[in-house]
Amino acid sequence: MKIVIDCDDAAIGLKKVIIDHLTKAGAEVTDLDYLGTKKDAFYPEIGYNLALKIQDGSFERGILICGTGLGMAMIANKVEGVYAGVCHDVFSAERLRKSNDAQVLTMGARVIGPELAKTIVTAWLASEFQGGGSQPKVDQMRQLEKQSFGK
Ligand code: RB5
Repeated sequence: MKIVIDCDDAAIGLKKVIIDHLTKAGAEVTDLDYLGTKKDAFYPEIGYNLALKIQDGSFERGILICGTGLGMAMIANKVEGVYAGVCHDVFSAERLRKSNDAQVLTMGARVIGPELAKTIVTAWLASEFQGGGSQPKVDQMRQLEKQSFGK
């Protein structure tokens, strides 16, 4: 599974921790390092850049980290076909995949510590969409999204 990650200025340390964690687990993770080319970038353009790479199929899963995780989730969800959620607990991280089929996990470096963040990422990566009763709900979300994007 190809995973992509990025963060804003509030989460540089936690992003390193998560990359190290994923690498040790044998995962293939790509750091877009948007701040490396534009050091004063705000979270919207950083999150949007990553979401486009989920949308075009370059990566299957994405992780976005900012101060709260909120802004990153908001911007990633503005890219059609990309679904993101903030998770600061393991149950939500599992449900984000199992129930909501979201490709992007967001977290807040000012909200949780590195050990919990690592556990959340592990749980999220181990979870897959279950279909079943969740399928028509996700289908409805995609249908309504088409209306929202004017198609
Ligand atoms: C800091 O820029 C803060 O606004 C950002 O990291 C994030 O928490 C926004 O949702």
